[in-house]
Amino acid sequence: MVSSSPLLLLLLLPILVVASLPAAPLQSQLSLDYYKKTCPQFEKIVGQVITEKQLGFPSTAAGVVRLFFHDCMVEGCDASLLISSNSFNKAERDHDINVPLPGDAFDVIARAKTALELECPGVVSCSDILATAARDLVVMVGGPHYQVVLGRKDGLVSHATSVQGHLATPKMSIQEIISLFQSRGYTVQEMVALVGAHTIGFSHCKEFSDRLFNFSKTSKTDPALNPKYADGLKKLCENYTTDPTMSAYNDVMTPGKFDNMYFRNLKRGLGLLASDQALAEDERTKPFVELYAENETAFFKDFAKAMEKTSLTKIKTEKDGDVRRRCDQFNEIKH
Ligand code: HEM
Ligand SMILES: *[C@@H]1O[C@H](CO)[C@@H](O)[C@H](O)[C@H]1NC(C)=O
Ligand SMILES: *[C@@H]1O[C@H](CO)[C@@H](O)[C@H](O)[C@H]1NC(C)=O
Ligand SMILES: *[C@@H]1O[C@H](CO)[C@@H](O)[C@H](O)[C@H]1NC(C)=O
Repeated sequence: MVSSSPLLLLLLLPILVVASLPAAPLQSQLSLDYYKKTCPQFEKIVGQVITEKQLGFPSTAAGVVRLFFHDCMVEGCDASLLISSNSFNKAERDHDINVPLPGDAFDVIARAKTALELECPGVVSCSDILATAARDLVVMVGGPHYQVVLGRKDGLVSHATSVQGHLATPKMSIQEIISLFQSRGYTVQEMVALVGAHTIGFSHCKEFSDRLFNFSKTSKTDPALNPKYADGLKKLCENYTTDPTMSAYNDVMTPGKFDNMYFRNLKRGLGLLASDQALAEDERTKPFVELYAENETAFFKDFAKAMEKTSLTKIKTEKDGDVRRRCDQFNEIKH
């Protein structure tokens, strides 16, 4: 290259320019009306299935929102979390962190898939169903609407071992949580907005039992907990070691409603998980907790944007994905 003539450089220039253009962003292959011709009933069918399920089983919404987030953070939004394990492969859903995901969440996606396969076989991906169902359920329980573009393909791999390190746990420090989200391209503010999803749903006692029974050498109970709330939780969780199904609402005030109560709770010591409460104390996250506690509109706007962003995580295309016939199985059985 040292001796390359100006002419050669000139000739190369167009190639260099072309080569340096970014590949067409995957998002441009997605569109709002992706199924307009191939499955015009897509939105209506998903809507019917989730409405019926949510009315019968109100815990569905939270389950699907968590399922969606956990799917997107591991291998992208490709429904790899819906795959069942078999004797050859332990799949994502059997990683410890995913095991408590409620059966109702998987069930509603399977139902929507079945209905869609009857209407337009082999057309709609499980990942599009999951992204759409999560958005629709957020809206159904009172949260903000956001756009979900369509055309995701379903992933071709799902390994429990891929989950490690991609999802936060309640025992992580705020520093660790910020780093994890930052490594996925989220700002601190986007992270705080996303965790606002804890305005709905449950957590099992083991996720916060240390805060009740085993906090520190000097205090069994986390002093950051509102004392009355702590007493209620201790009672609720008294048998949690023998009955691991015991669980508490993430938002004790308005458990089934998507609102900004989660943030208002944090300011009163009513955060359930240690990581929830810590958001209200760390100097980097506290300003956003205060903002969202005071201004639900701001929370809804930021949550919607961050969820829309999440729904575009590492989208698969025909090259590295397909449309599964069943959401819990790959089309080709691999060994
Ligand atoms: C600091 C980061 C986060 C931590 C440490 C965390 C941890 C947890 C834990 C331990 C549970 C209880 C699971 C169970 O016992 O069944 C839970 C529930 C839940 N999480 Fe998170 N989470 C985080 C961020 C998020 C984000 C970003 C979302 C979605 C955008 C989300 C949505 C949910 C929902 C909806 C539930 C309730 C699930 C249900 O009722 O079935 N979480 N989370
Ligand atoms: C109590 O907390 C300590 C330190 O976090 C932990 O190592 C231990 O396993 C906990 N004990 C129980 C019974 O959960
Ligand atoms: C815990 O177990 C005891 C003894 O079986 C029972 O009396 C009590 O009601 C249980 N508590 C909860 C919250 O289920
Ligand atoms: C609340 O947030 C919205 C959206 O960011 C903003 O337009 C509005 O001015 C805020 N309201 C108050 C009272 O600050």
